[in-house]
Formats: sequence, structure tokens, C-alpha cells
Amino acid sequence: MTGPRPASVATRTLRIAGRTPSPFGPAYAAGADGTENARSGGAKMSGGGPAFLSSPGRPRLPDDRPSADPKPTERSPAMSRAGALALKQPPEFEPAAPRPVPAAPVIAARGLSLTYPTADGPVHALSDVDLAVAPGEFVSFIGPSGCGKTTLLRCVADLERPTGGELTVNGVGAEAARLRRDYGFVFQAPALYPWRTIARNVALPLEIFGLPRAERRERVARYLDLVQLSGFANKFPWQLSGGMQQRASIARALCFDPKLLLMDEPFGALDEIVRDHLNAQLLELWRKTAKTVLFVTHSIPEAVYLSTRVVVMSPRPGRIVDIVDCTALGRERPLEIRETPEFLRLGQRVREGLRAGHAYDA
Ligand SMILES: Nc1ncnc2c1ncn2[C@@H]1O[C@H](COP(=O)(O)OP(=O)(O)O)[C@@H](O)[C@H]1O
Ligand SMILES: [Mg+2]
Repeated sequence: MTGPRPASVATRTLRIAGRTPSPFGPAYAAGADGTENARSGGAKMSGGGPAFLSSPGRPRLPDDRPSADPKPTERSPAMSRAGALALKQPPEFEPAAPRPVPAAPVIAARGLSLTYPTADGPVHALSDVDLAVAPGEFVSFIGPSGCGKTTLLRCVADLERPTGGELTVNGVGAEAARLRRDYGFVFQAPALYPWRTIARNVALPLEIFGLPRAERRERVARYLDLVQLSGFANKFPWQLSGGMQQRASIARALCFDPKLLLMDEPFGALDEIVRDHLNAQLLELWRKTAKTVLFVTHSIPEAVYLSTRVVVMSPRPGRIVDIVDCTALGRERPLEIRETPEFLRLGQRVREGLRAGHAYDA
């Protein structure tokens, strides 16, 4: 395909319209603001900060959009050049009610490949991955060990450089997105500093970003509350269970309000009862915060339960074998939903995808 890429169309669109070029889709305006504010000392952080919390007095998403962009929902990758030029003209009529437009993808990967050069020869970790993730989606990646799931997440996080294909994160390259602090990363191990209290662990990114102490304190309290750890702020990590430690690391990943959350088998090391509990909590958190989540797992029920879509990958080099749409389960998902025929059908389809990729021997 040789047509223009959506992200570049969106960027060009804004330039033509004479506004500050911003590759963000509408949902990202607040995040971009937050980043800039953090760099400038955080003075305006609370105004441009989390729009997803229902705490009293905090502005919600529509109010967080930069006032310089009165109609951000009209930014669309599909917007034509002619349509963009038309934006220069002041409207002569009352604008129609907002119409639904496809949101710019948070992740757009085309033909993404990554080969690690090693002493034993090249290791082809990813091959020709095509994927677009829309804002607010919860996308799980499932596949056998070594199929490139972590590599894919690390490419999004700009911790690895793809050796082929294209990747944009929130409409810009992965490096620009990383510098803009567009994502929070939750690793399989909670990776908390044992000499810091839970509150000070969560505060760490905020300290690095230079937020003032009062803002840090307020955010830490808010995010510990969100992951139900309010009473544990002054404990040390070793005084908490594994599940609680992982919740603290989720709070740390969320506290600077990234719109994208990358989670690499965050509950893989936990027992099933704790995992069930955390799955239900994560789903609730996702519904409250409207984050986009990329989530790596080995568990079929976990993937189906949490996701809007499950990406099934083949053994190395990781390719996408199937993408299973789980939206039929709705957004409210009690744990008992896992007993329903629809849930079992979706799990079966994921299992078949894994078998088709020769990845599952059950
Ligand atoms: N830094 C690296 N150098 C060389 N090979 C690597 C590196 N990181 C991962 N690999 C290899 O790439 C493949 C994919 O790894 P990974 O993305 O970690 O898989 P997964 O997360 O699906 O288990 C594996 O075969 C792994 O050994
Ligand atoms: Mg991995």
C-alpha cells in the first residue's frame, strides 16, 4: 500500500489548519499538556492532569482539551486535505452536532519486525506485525514463551528499535512518545525499591519529573486510593503481599497520567485467587480511567476476561495468528462471566489460534 499514513495525514492536517501541530488525538491532549507542564515545573499540572478521575473538583476530559483547539474530535486520520483546508475558514453556520469519527490509533504497527543479532546468529523475534489499537482499548497479547510479546511491548516503549516496518505511538515515533512520557510500564516483577516506602516508590517518577512536593503528595494519595492501598502508604514493599506490591507498581505507572499503560505479565507470578482479584480490580480501573492498555499474558481466561481484543501470536518469530474480538462480553464483567457460553466460546477461539500457530499442546 502506498497511500499516506494516517498519522502523517493527521499531522499535516493540523499544519494546514494553522494550529500548533500536535499528533495527539483528542483523548491525548490532556496527556500532552501534563507532560509539558511537568517539564516546566508542574505549575499547571493539576489543570491538565488526570481527566479520568471522578474526584470532586477535577476537570473532566472535555475541559482538559487545549482551548486553542475548539473541535479536536474533528481530527481524523481519514480527514482529507480539502477538508483540512476548509478548517481555515471560519464557519458561517451553526456547526452540526458532533458526529462519530474514527479515533486516531494509539498504536499503529505496519510490517513490524525485529531481529536480534546474537553471537549464535540472528534471532528473529518479531515478523511482519500489523496492528492498530484505538484509544481506550484493552488489548491482550498471548502466545508461547519466546514469541516476541515482551519485544513488541519494548518496541512500543522504545526500549528496542524495530529492524523493519513502521510503528507510531499516539501518532509519533516510539522515541518521541517515550520522551513525551506517553506510557506507563508495569513489569512482571513489581520492581519496588525496598528502602523506599510504598508512597515514595509511587512518587519516584513524579520526583524525576520535578513535580512540586504538594502535587506529588496529592497524586500519590489519589493513585494509592485508586489501587486500594491507601492504608499502606508508609509501609515498605517487603511488608506487603505480592499482589499488593504489584498494585503499588500499577499506581506508580499511572501516577503521571499516561494515557497508555503497557503491562508485561504483571500477574504472572501470582496465585490464581490473587490473580482473579487483581483482574477484577484492573478491569474496574480501566473502566474508570479510560486508559488504553496493552497487556501480555499466558492465561487464556485472563486475556478474554480483561480484553476488548486478544491478539494471538505464533511461536518465534512472533506473528499475529488471530485477533479475537471480546467486546460482546460488554464492559461490566463480573468474574462469573467466565462461566458463560460466550466467554467459553471466545476462550476456545483463542485456544484454536494458539493451536493453529502450533503453540498449544493441551
Ligand atoms: N536482547 C536480546 N538479545 C537476543 N535475543 C533476545 C533478546 N531479547 C529477547 N530475545 C529473544 O527473542 C525472542 C523473543 O523474546 P521475548 O520478546 O522476550 O518473548 P516473550 O515475551 O514472548 O516470551 C526469544 O527467543 C528471546 O530469547
Ligand atoms: Mg516476555
